[in-house]
Amino acid sequence: MSEPKTTSETSANAMWGGRFSVGPSEVMEKINASIDFDKRMSAQDIAGSKAHCSMLVKQGIINTEDGNAILKGLDTISREIENGSFTFSAALEDIHMNIENRLRELIGDAAGRLHTARSRNDQVATDFKLWVRSAIDELDKQTGLLIEALIKQAEENFDVIMPGYTHLQAAQPVTFGHHMLAYVEMFGRDRSRLQDCRKRLNECPLGAAALAGTSFAIDRHMTAEALGFDRPTANSLDSVSDRDHALEFMSSGAILATHLSRFAEELVIWCSQGFGFVTLSDAFTTGSSIMPQKKNPDAAELIRGKVGRVIGAMNTLFVVMKGLPLTYGKDMQEDKEPVFDAADTLILSVTAMTGMVSDMIANRDKLHAATADGFLTATDLADWLVKELNLPFRDAHHVTGTIVKLAEDKGCDISDLSLEEMQTVEARISQDIFRVLTVEQSAQSRTSFGGTAPENVKAAAKAARERFLS
Ligand code: ARG
Repeated sequence: MSEPKTTSETSANAMWGGRFSVGPSEVMEKINASIDFDKRMSAQDIAGSKAHCSMLVKQGIINTEDGNAILKGLDTISREIENGSFTFSAALEDIHMNIENRLRELIGDAAGRLHTARSRNDQVATDFKLWVRSAIDELDKQTGLLIEALIKQAEENFDVIMPGYTHLQAAQPVTFGHHMLAYVEMFGRDRSRLQDCRKRLNECPLGAAALAGTSFAIDRHMTAEALGFDRPTANSLDSVSDRDHALEFMSSGAILATHLSRFAEELVIWCSQGFGFVTLSDAFTTGSSIMPQKKNPDAAELIRGKVGRVIGAMNTLFVVMKGLPLTYGKDMQEDKEPVFDAADTLILSVTAMTGMVSDMIANRDKLHAATADGFLTATDLADWLVKELNLPFRDAHHVTGTIVKLAEDKGCDISDLSLEEMQTVEARISQDIFRVLTVEQSAQSRTSFGGTAPENVKAAAKAARERFLS
């Protein structure tokens, strides 16, 4: 085997190559370069550099003339990146050195002063936090829109009766609106986790330098404020080695994706022929290339499938981080791709879900018809025995079970049995029992806080608007 080639036998990296006589081998350059993905942090890198530069000028660490040249150069670079004329180079490893190198081309030696009192270690930590922060903000906003779509469905269908399930077996009547609001609670908790993660994230690592801080008289409070952080981070070692924000973002995201997936699963079931509970719009379904009659819930299935990517991304970073001694290790360059992928996947999934939910039609008749099977009012019968005949609940449960068996043997619902038939099981049962054996009455009676009674659902939807959307 031949020796691995170097990209250049003579030129070592201009940014750090002082002690090197030759450049890296091709394969070293390939494994080392992160520019293909970290170019997504260019706006954050420029913002961080501008804040750092202004601070260096204010503190008298670099002069105003150099500072202005740097700021102007960074603005030019920002425009070049935006209009696509910027050339990214793998030989320059990452976004930080690509930008600094271009700055030198644009303004000459003054560019070399920008890296005073900072290191790529605090620089990348800052850029990454800024990126994760904006991903959190976008995901939080999109999840808010999903919550709004769900609340609208709840308001429109607050009194639409359907079976509630346990074990995917019909259990008790609930309302469609109540079911929608269950997801509102879940996505509401997701938003609060994201917002909580943002609060902890919002401390600025810039100025921690390589790991130990710096001997220059920098003002870390100034840069923190300029970049919208609440304060600078307190410990320089922690500042450059911490990736908790990424782990927390993906953990919160994994829970959110899990909620999306559970809902997607329900939609897949609900729009199947056996159920027909909802109709999804043409805009969020696809046809089959062979079966002309098909309308498949692909968006729901993809959302259900994509949770694997999000949980996978979270796992990736946990495994990368778990054995790292303080402080920075190049392993940590592996933090970005999973986070970028998780963020893209989450935002796409939430947006697709919002579209599906907004267009979705609840099929009242099918939902109601499904309550006919499964003796959904059996609990209401047992509760009547407790309330009217003062039976202990356990005994009432037993009596009801016997009545259910009777109906099952006759192939009818319990409400179709005659009073006499019921009285063979419990003689004191009166005509009044039939009052509680309709699914409407069953749902209406569940007025306990958080219960499914339509009036509760109406009030809960209103409260949810205030809790989650104001
Ligand atoms: N590209 C690197 C990363 O993403 C930047 C930090 C490099 N620091 C270093 N000491 N080599 O982590």
